[in-house]
Amino acid sequence: MKEQILKIKENSLQEIQKAENLKILNDLKVKYLGKKGELTAVLRGMGNLTPEERPIIGSLVNEVRDELEKLIREKEEKFEKEELNKKLENEKIDITLPSTKIKRGSLHPVNRIIEDIEDLFVSMGYDVVTGPELETDEYCFERLNLPKGHPARDMQDSFYINTEYLLRTQTSAVQARTMMANKDKTPIRMITAGKTYRREDDATHSHQFNQIEGLVVDYKERNVSLADLKGTLEVFVRKIIGANLDLRFRPSYFPFTEPSYEVDVTCFKCGGKGCNLCKQTGWIEVLGAGIVHPNVLKMNGYNPEKFGGFAFGTGIDRLAMFRYGITDMRYLYTNDVRFLSQFDRKDEE
Ligand code: DAH
Repeated sequence: MKEQILKIKENSLQEIQKAENLKILNDLKVKYLGKKGELTAVLRGMGNLTPEERPIIGSLVNEVRDELEKLIREKEEKFEKEELNKKLENEKIDITLPSTKIKRGSLHPVNRIIEDIEDLFVSMGYDVVTGPELETDEYCFERLNLPKGHPARDMQDSFYINTEYLLRTQTSAVQARTMMANKDKTPIRMITAGKTYRREDDATHSHQFNQIEGLVVDYKERNVSLADLKGTLEVFVRKIIGANLDLRFRPSYFPFTEPSYEVDVTCFKCGGKGCNLCKQTGWIEVLGAGIVHPNVLKMNGYNPEKFGGFAFGTGIDRLAMFRYGITDMRYLYTNDVRFLSQFDRKDEE
């Protein structure tokens, strides 16, 4: 029996040494050490041995089994390591490869203009302020010298929520809010931008649009004048729409300014020669502006004897149309990525 065991040992060790992969190794494990394996069979035959022989043979079998197990484990580890190394070799990550591009959204053209305008006015010492879109009749009209029943209210077809509240038709409401928040205490230099609403809808009008509004109120002795207004708007138009544009002030009427003006710029399409865009006039109207009406100052807590200033307002959507050559205002609100992606900040990436 001893010889049989030693023979098994010799054969198995030889075969295990020769094994070339995990699969063969596993088969050998089964062949020698498995339930039906050769060494196990020897143990089963121990019943026929004398009591003296049994422990000797038993420990010999154990020794051989330990030795085989050890060798198998060593080889297993070696194979596993090799396999892992091979895998790592093949799956090497090249960190210099460019990553997959994640598609980014782009800033809406209207918001781009708002940002540019705010930056410009902040650089001239203005504060950026905000006001509510759901506004009261009082702030949207009454405090701007437009009492109930005033005929000029007809210029703006409004969405009323009830008799008191409406969706603001003009950012001018923020003029009143800013004055009421400061009341005679401080001079004002503010700019505000945001959504406004009117009942209209065609290629150049949308029921929801955006306005920007500026207000300067200062001590009388500082002499804030039409010249300042004109200079300010010149900088504004030339920086935001086009460097070579000229301005034209036309007398007009707004209840909250006196005198009031409509401000035109040179038609950027024909350069002032006259074309279909400017209706052959060479000019395009862009802004409303004027000297703040004394009634408005008075109603909002500023003494018109001591204070004076100017105000202006304009539709940002129209500025965006001019700047980017957009022909229909409704494109700005249909949320079409083919349209919007054209305003990607590719230049800034
Ligand atoms: N709020 C006016 C409008 O929506 C525009 C405007 C005109 C604003 C004159 C002003 C201004 O601040 O002084 O038609």
